[in-house]
This record gives sequence, C-alpha cells and structure tokens, in this order.
Amino acid sequence: MLHGTGIILLTLLAWVDGSDIPCDTAMPGMPGIPGIHGRDGRDGQKGAKGEKGIPASSNMSSLKGEKGFRGIEGPMGKNGPKGPPGPPGDKGERGFPGDNGMPGNHKRQYQSAFTMARVTGINPTKNTPIIFNRVITNDHQHYNVTSGTFVCHIPGLYYFVYHASQDKNLCVSLYADSEVKASFCDHISNDVQVTSGGVLVQLQKFQEVWLSANDYNGMIGIENNDSVFSGFLVFPD
Ligand SMILES: *[C@@H]1O[C@H](CO)[C@@H](O)[C@H](O)[C@H]1NC(C)=O
Ligand SMILES: *[C@@H]1O[C@H](CO)[C@@H](O)[C@H](O)[C@H]1NC(C)=O
Ligand SMILES: *[C@@H]1O[C@H](CO)[C@@H](O)[C@H](O)[C@H]1NC(C)=O
Repeated sequence: MLHGTGIILLTLLAWVDGSDIPCDTAMPGMPGIPGIHGRDGRDGQKGAKGEKGIPASSNMSSLKGEKGFRGIEGPMGKNGPKGPPGPPGDKGERGFPGDNGMPGNHKRQYQSAFTMARVTGINPTKNTPIIFNRVITNDHQHYNVTSGTFVCHIPGLYYFVYHASQDKNLCVSLYADSEVKASFCDHISNDVQVTSGGVLVQLQKFQEVWLSANDYNGMIGIENNDSVFSGFLVFPD
C-alpha cells in the first residue's frame, strides 16, 4: 500500500510540471499503472523456547525387542515319581488240563525197605559183600540173601544203616556199584562192642548196594550180639 501511494504522488508532480495546457481547461490525467511489489521484509525475531518434553521411560521392559531364535534343546529331565498301580487286568484264559495222576495203589508201589541180620560167629570174608543171612524185614526181596546186595527197583533217595557187633577191630565200607560211598572204622577196646554207620544215597534202577570189610573184619552175629544191615526208600524220583 505504501508503494502504491508513492507512485500516485510522482504522477501528480509530473502532471503539474508540464503546464502547456491552461488550468481551467485542464483535464485530469489517466491513473498510472500499479507499481511492482516491493521486496520481502527482514526475518522476524527468534521465537520463545518451547515447553519441556515428557522424560523417556526408564522401564526397559517397555522397550520390547524382536522375538529371538529358538534356543537349543536342554538335557533330558529326571524320571518322574512312580505312578499309582493300575487296575487289575482281565482274567486269563483257562489252561490245558493236567496229566493224569499216579495210580491209586501208590503206597504199595513205592515201597522198598529191609533189615537183615548176620547170624554167625565167623568173621566175614574180606573185600567181598558181607552176607546178612537172616531176614527180619524183606517184604519185596530187594535184598538178595545169596549175593548179599540190595538191588534198587525204585529209583530215588535211599538211607542205609548198619549196627555191627565186633570182637576185633572192624572197618566197614558201603558200596554202590563198586563205588565207596562211606567208610567207618572202630578199634576194639572191650570184649564186644557195637559200631554203626549210615548214609543217604541216590540210586538208579538196578544199582546194587552192599557192605564190605577190609583187613579189619571183626564182625560177629551171635545171640545178644547182633549185626544188622537196613535200608529204605526215603523219596522216589
Ligand atoms: C514396565 O512396563 C511394562 C509394559 O508396559 C509394564 O507391564 C510393567 O508393569 C512396567 N514395570 C514397571 C516397574 O513400571
Ligand atoms: C541174587 O543173586 C544171585 C547171585 O548173584 C543171583 O544168581 C540171583 O539171580 C539173584 N536173585 C535175584 C532175585 O535177583
Ligand atoms: C556177646 O559176646 C561176647 C564176646 O564173645 C560174650 O562174652 C558174651 O557172652 C556175648 N553175649 C551173650 C549174651 O552171649
């Protein structure tokens, strides 16, 4: 606006200078063309300092980062405690029927027992089966009076025992098929004394068992001075 006013004033002075034309007949001149815009003004003063901002949060967990990679698998954990026992299972199938039982006459079938006495004042022959010639018990004839041996008819475990009267030193061995199972020796210290020995032996069918004396064979069998040999089946196989 200020510039526009200046231009109008200059135009007016020029018009007053060129006065060829009489005043009374003078006509008002044409209005001048508007002037060009003036230059921009200077920068204004610096503005006042702004208000203080909100302080940054010290809570680091609010600064959430990106999701990391999956870590490596850890070692296997310990076994847990034993659980409570489960409910009982279903009943099993019925089994096959068992074998037939033994025959009813079991008592008679598995019997074997004897007691024989040796009746003679003569000492037995060395290193041969001692003959016990008087039967006390020999229901099944498993003791052979001729050979002086017990013959096994029922395989199983047998007990053999002897009680011998002796008037001299006496050593007795119990044989099973020529194998010595036990030996007993007693040296005489009285006129007559009694010695004994017993042993359990496992026997197979037809194995033979007998007693035999060695050089010490002072066995006698006279009245009130008996010598006896006994054997019986304990358990059949
Ligand atoms: C930190 O920031 C988290 C998420 O914004 C928030 O759940 C948590 O309560 C904050 N903890 C404290 C101590 O300000
Ligand atoms: C008894 O033994 C004798 C002599 O070894 C033998 O001849 C006989 O056949 C036997 N007897 C029995 C019943 O085995
Ligand atoms: C037994 O034998 C001894 C020795 O031979 C004898 O002294 C004793 O009289 C005998 N016993 C009997 C009852 O004959």
